[in-house]
Amino acid sequence: MKLAVLREALESERRVALVPESVKKLTAAGFSITVESGCGTTAFFSDEAYAAAGAVVSPDPAKILAEADMLIKVGVPGWSGGGRDEVGMMHEGQMLLASLMPARNPGLMKALAGRKVTAFSTDAIPRTTRAQAMDTLSSMANIAGYKGVLLGAVELARYCPMFMTAAGTIFPAKVFVIGAGVAGLQAIATARRLGAQVFATDVRPEVKEQIESVGAKYVGIELKQSAAAGGGYAKELSAEDKARQSQMLAEQCAISDMVVTTALIGGVFAPKLISGDIVRKMRPGSVIVDLAAEGGGNCELSKPGSTIVENGVKVVAPLNLPSSMPADASTLWSRNMLNFLMAFWKDKKFNLDMNDEIIKGAAITHGGEILHAKTKEAIAAAGG
Ligand code: NAI
Repeated sequence: MKLAVLREALESERRVALVPESVKKLTAAGFSITVESGCGTTAFFSDEAYAAAGAVVSPDPAKILAEADMLIKVGVPGWSGGGRDEVGMMHEGQMLLASLMPARNPGLMKALAGRKVTAFSTDAIPRTTRAQAMDTLSSMANIAGYKGVLLGAVELARYCPMFMTAAGTIFPAKVFVIGAGVAGLQAIATARRLGAQVFATDVRPEVKEQIESVGAKYVGIELKQSAAAGGGYAKELSAEDKARQSQMLAEQCAISDMVVTTALIGGVFAPKLISGDIVRKMRPGSVIVDLAAEGGGNCELSKPGSTIVENGVKVVAPLNLPSSMPADASTLWSRNMLNFLMAFWKDKKFNLDMNDEIIKGAAITHGGEILHAKTKEAIAAAGG
């Protein structure tokens, strides 16, 4: 089976889908791999390192794609709707493995179905124990939680840790983390390592114990209706619970120096939890880091990709933080890809078992059809 790795379509993307470490393991298992020259440069992996690991390095993306059985990427491929038209170079029966965010990219999914490509989206891989080692969402959210707190610390007008100096004592900053999934738990752990006093909340009941186990104090309301939706996901709160939560968030934000928000519903939609009023009641000099910016943001004032200041409070809404740590992010991504490929590698063939729960969950397009329910809904909502 021939795998292809091309440069990422987005100019701002610094990660690469396979790193030499995985290339070596995959070629040893019997895959042949061709990478586009320079594909690893922004993540600090040289063409020489790929060649030494057993890959063919080629400058010709059209030729690489023509010969490949599967294209492996980090983000969406370029297509006629944006960037170098990689989808236009793909052929019937070819496979694609990448984070496609299909419900946010219905036009691209239609184009992939039109080319009869079997497209797997890593963000649709079910969150099960068996699939954990392939879960790019978790690997990348972990980076976002870590880097988000570091960004917040840089923007903060004060120290995170407690300091006892000759000029007297500085008390530790209070950090409040909203949403304690993968990104949130890592944000708590990172803020604790920086010496802050950390508080956190979530709406899934099982998370309280996890919050406490990474060293934060749990704050929350008794929900009238459960918000657990299974698979580690939450559903939207009832109107009554929303109002009660909003009151609690306002009180906790008002006494916090840094607020890190990561709340996500069903893995897609970011609920608006912090209103402009809540921001204006925070202490000037404090910081909000809205990690849900990609899904629209948890703070009403967030401008995805930018920082704004409201009443002395900075609202930072970073996009694609994993790309800002391209070396480790690519290594983790690549290991997730390796684990996906090896799970279906039998007798030196990729076993495309459409009944397997992982393949079934991850396959967005196959045989000219769109299989993914949320993508079909997004297409219908956009008028077909
Ligand atoms: P996740 O689904 O594991 O966690 C989200 C958490 O939010 C869940 O624990 C859920 O119960 C909680 N939640 C939902 N509604 C809530 C509410 N009303 N109040 C409190 N908590 C609520 O998601 P994960 O993987 O941790 O990702 C978190 C966020 O980080 C997402 O928005 C994701 O898009 C973002 N992210 C951002 C990146 C960046 O560069 N900015 C990179 C990677 C992830």
